[in-house]
Amino acid sequence: MDALDRLIDLHGPDVVLAAVAPMLTPERLARIDAVLDARLVSLVPVVEDLYDPHNGAAAIRSAEALGLQDFHVVEPGQRFSVTKGVTKGCDRWLTLHRWPAITGCVAHLQAQGFRVLATAPGAAEDIEHVDVSRPLAVVFGNEHAGVTAAGVAACDGTLAIPMAGFTESFNLSVSVALVTQRLATRRRDALGARGDLPAERRARLRARWAALRIRGAVGVIERHVSGQTRPDVAMQPQPRENLDP
Ligand SMILES: C[S@@+](CC[C@H](N)C(=O)[O-])C[C@H]1O[C@@H](n2cnc3c(N)ncnc32)[C@H](O)[C@@H]1O
Repeated sequence: MDALDRLIDLHGPDVVLAAVAPMLTPERLARIDAVLDARLVSLVPVVEDLYDPHNGAAAIRSAEALGLQDFHVVEPGQRFSVTKGVTKGCDRWLTLHRWPAITGCVAHLQAQGFRVLATAPGAAEDIEHVDVSRPLAVVFGNEHAGVTAAGVAACDGTLAIPMAGFTESFNLSVSVALVTQRLATRRRDALGARGDLPAERRARLRARWAALRIRGAVGVIERHVSGQTRPDVAMQPQPRENLDP
């Protein structure tokens, strides 16, 4: 939860959007809506106890590019650090959930209706045949040990990416990209829709993403709100933002 989330909580997404939308071109707003249309919240990656932040950043970048919204990281030891050079800042469009232990993360997802599967090279169930008719969360292990025994025990089953060469496993971030790409395609086919973002969450993200496009958005929103409640405080004209999409 950052300052933007707090402002959205406090004033509601419509007020926040009204504050920043005049500074965005119609093309930028249309782009935000197109990405929201394709956002999939019923497929969720979980990465457990990662060593290499570049690997984590690359996994986040793939998940965001493929249209997922939620990304869970389990950090029993050192804090998961997103390497900006690899994500190219795409982590700001995602909702990152941090957990100290895999058991709490898996129990939370199961309580939300997700079937949770641990990835394991050679598992009996694979990404081509796994049931995608209900929400699915997929746990990935670290580069050395794979998913922990506690992780496998907490999950509802295991899942493999089919392999046909001499190599015994894929790199972690490659695995996230392969699983996410295939399961997102299959899940969208099963839904008969590109995205499944609930209306309330969509409104929050729309306001947040629009604000993220504006330099100094927190100040812009605060001036807008105080201008609404105190007619003597006029809104200062703001420059149009010029960041690339
Ligand atoms: C380099 S692998 C770890 C290999 C580890 N020695 C093992 O046996 O799990 C890193 C992670 O990528 C994923 N992975 C790699 N190849 C996979 C495959 N063929 N099927 C499913 N997951 C795979 C798993 O999440 C694994 O924990």
